[in-house]
Parts: sequence; C-alpha cells; structure tokens
Amino acid sequence: MAILRADALEFISRSAEQTRRLGMRLGAWLQPGDVLALEGDLGGGKTTFVQGLAAGWGTTARVSSPTFVLVNVYQRDDGASLYHMDAYRLSGPQEAWDLDIAAMWEEGPLVVEWADIIAEALPAERVTIRFKWLTETQRVLTFHPEGQRPRDLIRRLRAAIVRGV
Ligand SMILES: Nc1ncnc2c1ncn2[C@@H]1O[C@H](COP(=O)(O)OP(=O)(O)O)[C@@H](O)[C@H]1O
Ligand SMILES: [Mg+2]
Repeated sequence: MAILRADALEFISRSAEQTRRLGMRLGAWLQPGDVLALEGDLGGGKTTFVQGLAAGWGTTARVSSPTFVLVNVYQRDDGASLYHMDAYRLSGPQEAWDLDIAAMWEEGPLVVEWADIIAEALPAERVTIRFKWLTETQRVLTFHPEGQRPRDLIRRLRAAIVRGV
C-alpha cells in the first residue's frame, strides 16, 4: 500500500466525465505561475483532465493532446494564456529549457503531460498529479502538492470533493 503524505490527495474517478469535472474545479483557480505536472499510464486520463481544466480556467478552445506539436496555448477572452505541454517526445529537461519553459509558466498557468521526463526543468513548487489505470472506467488520481500555493490549491480541491464532484 502506498503511504501518502498528509497533504496528498487521492481520488478515484469513475468516469471520464468525472475526471473532466475534477479538472474544471481546479482549472477555475489557476493563475500565472501555477504548474501542474501530470504523470502516469497512457490512457490514464491526463488529456481528459486537461480538457476539464481548460474549460474551468475559461477557454472555449478545443483541447487535444499536443503530442506532435509539443505545446498548445489556449486563450481566454481577457487575453490570458494557458500552456499545455506534452513531454512524451522530449528526451529530457534540456529540450524543455530550449523551449523556454519558464517563460510559459511566468505568463500563464502551465500543465505538462509526461512531466517526469522533464522534471528537472520544472519548478519545485508545483502540483504533481499521478494517473493510474484501475479498470476500463476507473482511474486513480493522486495529487502531490509541493509548496504553499500548491498546498492551498489541493486543500480547496479536497473541500470541493467533499461537497461532491
Ligand atoms: N475515469 C476516467 N477518467 C479519465 N478517462 C477515462 C475514465 N474512464 C475511461 N476513460 C477513458 O480513458 C481514456 C483516457 O485517455 P487520455 O485522457 O487521452 O489519457 P492520457 O492523456 O493519460 O494518455 C479516454 O478515452 C477516456 O474516455
Ligand atoms: Mg495525453
């Protein structure tokens, strides 16, 4: 059994729609500087989660996996940007530095799929979210916040889950 730190949050999602709704809750609170590092199985629900995240943040843009373009940028009516990176095809942190990844999270929130590949290029202060395939329709999402702001976000998410997602 995994031992979780007290500030970690484990959530069992029972449908893709529920994973999207969870993403929407968190997305609504995201600000420039926030970094979400998504890790875990192919088909684990990372892109599905980002679809909800982007909708909650406030864009109407269609969210798809940026596996081939590396980074998608979604815009909001107020001019804000949400950066969605997929590190699957990157060989390591150097390529992320070459893409000036810090400029992305300085301008807007940044969410990265396959973040473990470029972990060293990410700020220590971030929320790591691990996705685990459980059954055809169930996924385990575990949120690991590092730092004050990420812990605040996950505390709010925990409260939202208690009220129901
Ligand atoms: N509980 C669930 N949460 C998220 N996705 C789910 C769930 N149950 C089934 N799915 C399906 O699993 C797939 C997840 O794919 P995707 O989000 O692209 O994963 P990843 O980006 O991690 O590779 C989608 O087809 C989605 O409909
Ligand atoms: Mg994906």
